[in-house]
Amino acid sequence: MHLGVNIDHIATLRQARLTQYPDPIAAAQICMEAGADGITAHLREDRRHIQDADMERLAAMAQAGELHLNMEMAVTDEMVAIACRLKPQAVCLVPEKRQELTTEGGLDVAGHIARMQDAVAKLADAGCRVSMFIDPNTSQLDASHLIGAPVVELHTGHFANLTGNAQAAELVQIQKTAMYARDLGLIVHAGHGLTLENTLDMVNISAIEGLNIGHAIVADAVFKGLQQSVADFKAVMQR
Ligand code: PXP
Repeated sequence: MHLGVNIDHIATLRQARLTQYPDPIAAAQICMEAGADGITAHLREDRRHIQDADMERLAAMAQAGELHLNMEMAVTDEMVAIACRLKPQAVCLVPEKRQELTTEGGLDVAGHIARMQDAVAKLADAGCRVSMFIDPNTSQLDASHLIGAPVVELHTGHFANLTGNAQAAELVQIQKTAMYARDLGLIVHAGHGLTLENTLDMVNISAIEGLNIGHAIVADAVFKGLQQSVADFKAVMQR
């Protein structure tokens, strides 16, 4: 199972003081050394954490074969142009709202077929493998398949925020939609809100091939260091 470490929050810490440190690129190197399979970074329209220069440096490392880069981005002309120029190996399309603290839900692919299809085609032409970040429901999976996206990332944020029976029901829903997606021929990833405690639930779903995890890894790193934090998540995923 592929572990993509989202390094946005290293940049969040740097931007809080507008300093040069901590450097998210140095963090990416540590994550790779600690067993991450790739690095995920979100260039938001408001540039609240990752900056253009960060993405340029990550893309240069990706081009040099030093890491696998998954660029998260909104479906805008500006972002599509940047990704087509930087050519990360992977792009994950996400919804973005200015006021949100973090990505709050999945993309409405079914409601914006033409726009999504156009973005996926341009990014695929640039050599990027495109993933649609969607809520675990079949209509969004059908739409993602229809527009030719090879990968979907199932949003696990609701699952992570629930407890008890409601959480168990959401887990079943993720499991069912992951199998449905795999049967359509899609590669299935999942992410958002995953912690050392709930990651195992995703690992147990055989249709899921990769996880993207950020906040909990960086939060745990405050106490035990980034290397150990990444290694601990990787160990759960290898169980
Ligand atoms: N996947 C996507 C598409 C995201 O937008 C995020 C958050 O940036 C993550 C995964 C990682 O979520 P978290 O930071 O809660 O682990």
